[in-house]
Amino acid sequence: MSTAIVCGATGILGREIVSLLASNPQKWKTIHALSRSKKDDYPSNVIHNHIDLLHSAEEMAAELKDVSAEYVFFAAYMEQATEAENWKVNGDMLQNFLNALTFTGATKSLKRILLVTGCKHYGVHLGRPKLPMLESDPWLTDQSVYPPNFYYRQQNILHDFCKENPHIGWNVTYPNDVIGFAHGNFMNLASGLGIYAAVSKELGQKLAFPGAERFYSGFDCFTSSKLHAEFCEWVVLEEKARNQAFNVVNGDVQAWEDMWPRLARRFGMEVDAGQFQQEVDMKLGAKVEMNETPPIKIWEKELGLEGRVKRNVLSQRVSMVKWAQQEEVKKAWERLAEREGLQKDGLEKGTWKFVDFELGRDFDCVVSMSKAREYGWSGYQDSWKAFSDVFGELEAAKVLPKTH
Ligand SMILES: NC(=O)c1ccc[n+]([C@@H]2O[C@H](COP(=O)([O-])OP(=O)(O)OC[C@H]3O[C@@H](n4cnc5c(N)ncnc54)[C@H](OP(=O)(O)O)[C@@H]3O)[C@@H](O)[C@H]2O)c1
Repeated sequence: MSTAIVCGATGILGREIVSLLASNPQKWKTIHALSRSKKDDYPSNVIHNHIDLLHSAEEMAAELKDVSAEYVFFAAYMEQATEAENWKVNGDMLQNFLNALTFTGATKSLKRILLVTGCKHYGVHLGRPKLPMLESDPWLTDQSVYPPNFYYRQQNILHDFCKENPHIGWNVTYPNDVIGFAHGNFMNLASGLGIYAAVSKELGQKLAFPGAERFYSGFDCFTSSKLHAEFCEWVVLEEKARNQAFNVVNGDVQAWEDMWPRLARRFGMEVDAGQFQQEVDMKLGAKVEMNETPPIKIWEKELGLEGRVKRNVLSQRVSMVKWAQQEEVKKAWERLAEREGLQKDGLEKGTWKFVDFELGRDFDCVVSMSKAREYGWSGYQDSWKAFSDVFGELEAAKVLPKTH
C-alpha cells in the first residue's frame, strides 16, 4: 500500500488526484491533502493538512512535521499579475516546499515527485507554437524575446532536487485547456461557458460564439481533470517513466464548430445561424496582440517558414470581460440565480479573461500524446463528454441551472 501528498488539493487538477487516490484505499493507505482551505469532505484514508506555501521552508516544516509519503503530487498554483511574479512566487512555493521536506526528513521515504504544469510550457500564451507540441521541443528561454516562464523555473528546481536526492524520481505533466470542477473556483472554462449559455437563454437569445471566428473551426486539445489524475497515478508508479515529462490531453482533437451546437443543445438552445455575419461591434468586441515573437519563430528557418511567421492576435467578437459587466447580463444572472437557487457570485467571480483567452486564439493548439502512448499509456476521454459531465457537476453544485 502506498502513501501520497497532494499539494493544491482543492484546485481543479489537485482535487481530482486526491479523489482518485482516495477511491482506492486498498492501494493508497494515506493521502495527505494540502492546501490553505478545506473544501471537500474526505474519506478516512485522506488527512487534510493546512499549509501556506508562501511561508518560509522552516515555517512549512513545522506545519508538515507529521507528514510523510512515498509520492508527492504538486498541483498548487497562485496566479500573479505578471510572468515575472509568477516566476518568483510559484517557483519559490515549490522550492520552499521541497526544502521543508528536507528539514522534516520526509525526503527519506519519497520515491517520486510529480509536478503539474501546462502547455504554457510551449508558449501557447505567447502565440502560435510549432504543431504538434512535443515534449522534446526546445524551451523558450531567450529572455530578450520571451518573458520568463515559471514552469521552466519549477522544472529546474525539481530536476536539481532529484539530482541532490538520487533515490527520488520526477515527473512533469503538461495538460492543456483543462475541463474540470473545483468548489468555489470559477477559473474554469466549463463554468464560464455554462454561465454564458444560461444567461443568453434567460435573455431570449440564441447561442452565439463569442470568440474568434478563426478559432471556431480551429483545432484544440483539452485535458479532463479526471483523466489527468489517472495519468498522474499511472505515471508515478511506472518505473520506465521515471524522470520524464509528458503531455496529458484527452486523446481527441476538437473544434468549437463541433462542440458549440452540442453546447446549445445541452442548454436547450439553438446556435445563432448568422453568428459571424455581423460586423464586430468594438464596444463589446476586443483585439490584442500577443507576444511580438511567437514560439514558432525559433523554428522558422528549419521549417522553411522564413518571412511567414506573424505576430498572433487574440480577438473576441464579444469579450466575456465586457459582456459580464453589462447591466442586462447582471440583472439576468440575478434573476436566474434567485429563481434557481444558484451561487449568486458566479458571474462576478467568473474569470472571463481566461475564457476570452481560450476562445480568442488565431492559431491551433494540437498536443501530441505519442510519447505517453509509447511509454504504455492508453487512457482516453472524449472532450465533449468531459464537458457534459462537468456541466452536470456544476448543476449539482448550484453553479449552473439544471438543464436536464
Ligand atoms: N486550470 C487550467 O485550465 C489549467 C490548464 C493548464 C495548466 N494548468 C496548470 O495546472 C497547475 C494547477 O492549476 P489549477 O488550475 O489546478 O489551479 P487552481 O484550481 O487555481 O488550484 C490551485 C491550488 O493551489 C492551492 N494554493 C494556492 N496558493 C496556495 C498557498 N499559498 N498555499 C497552499 N496552497 C495554495 C489552492 O488551494 P487553497 O487556495 O485552498 O490554498 C488550490 O488547491 C498550474 O500550474 C496551472 O497553471 C491549469
